[in-house]
Amino acid sequence: MQTRVYLDANATHPLLSQVKIALREALSSEDEWGNPSSLHSSGRRSKKILNDLRKELELASGLKESGWVLCSGATESLNLALAVAKKKSWPVLYSAVEHSAVLRYCEKELASQARSLTVAEDGSLDLTVLDRELKALDGNPCLLVLQTHNNESGLPLLPLERQPEFLKILSEHPQSHLLMDMVQSLPKADAKLWKNLLPRASYVVASGHKAGAMIGIGALWVREGAPLFPQSFGGLQEGGRRAGTEAVWNAFSWLEALKVWRMEGDAIRALWKRQRDFLKSSLKDVPGLQMMLVPHDSEVLLNTLLVSLPSSRSDLILQKLDLKGISISAGSACRSGITQSSHVLRAMGCDAEWTQAVLRISMPVAISDEHLDYFVKTLKGIV
Ligand SMILES: Cc1ncc(COP(=O)(O)O)c(C=O)c1O
Repeated sequence: MQTRVYLDANATHPLLSQVKIALREALSSEDEWGNPSSLHSSGRRSKKILNDLRKELELASGLKESGWVLCSGATESLNLALAVAKKKSWPVLYSAVEHSAVLRYCEKELASQARSLTVAEDGSLDLTVLDRELKALDGNPCLLVLQTHNNESGLPLLPLERQPEFLKILSEHPQSHLLMDMVQSLPKADAKLWKNLLPRASYVVASGHKAGAMIGIGALWVREGAPLFPQSFGGLQEGGRRAGTEAVWNAFSWLEALKVWRMEGDAIRALWKRQRDFLKSSLKDVPGLQMMLVPHDSEVLLNTLLVSLPSSRSDLILQKLDLKGISISAGSACRSGITQSSHVLRAMGCDAEWTQAVLRISMPVAISDEHLDYFVKTLKGIV
């Protein structure tokens, strides 16, 4: 294989080809991009990019452009929202499969204030536990932190058939503030899977590099009237909500990437569905391989397939695949290289043998069938 086969898009999606072209053109232009806070035309040119990005985020999510606070990534955005709970002394409830940006913040900053909510074997939130925990708060405010899709399993935390019950529970607890981590779903997942949840959210988080933009940009959306306490102090950027000169080039790349998703999102997902079906059928022949398939498999991130080779170990398989030109992770990229079992899979009740041998296949946009075929054949050859 001449080029590397990249199957780690949930960790970082490669720059979309359209984004590369737009960046090359912008870089070769004679027009300067000034500081977006400067009043001259070079500064206003940069400011327009930030504003256009917020408009594009509104088109992608339906969430008002003025609510989007640009940050360095989703980790900072999640931390910024969690800092509200710290400041207000709100209890925090989070699903057991949240990203380490949430788990670590709770561990370090909120210890006794935070409680984890169990998920079922299919990766969905246990609504009975949620209801019980909310009732125990006795009408006091709290922050509820939930992902739309999980980065390791690709599974939805709130499958469509459970969403009405979830929304009913929240309506009985109007004091609860919902923080939605949409990093993997926006814009990868079809909007029908998450759009009914957003009217209930006070805070929403997204990240550029999961969508084919440059690494180093993300955003927190804050509903009008919901509290926010800046965690960095300096200039009055982002309406005084996040100090520091904005990363204009990164913003430009995210803006361009979101335009691609707006125009081509349905076609991208249709191709992924076909390719994921191909993987599901062709990987069946790999000796000992097991796939994570749940009843609501149609609502999974269509670029993601989690498999395990229980008699082996992920790190050994990853090394062998790497030598054959294939980039892939064992679940979360944050864990790569460390022999630590996945908190996501443990929360879903997977046994140690399954968890230690897991491979997360996460396809980028426009991966070729030839690359997928090469991956399947290579995997068969090394196990
Ligand atoms: C669900 C989820 N939330 C948050 C993050 C953190 O995102 P970032 O890399 O932009 O800080 C990730 C990254 O993998 C993620 O998958």
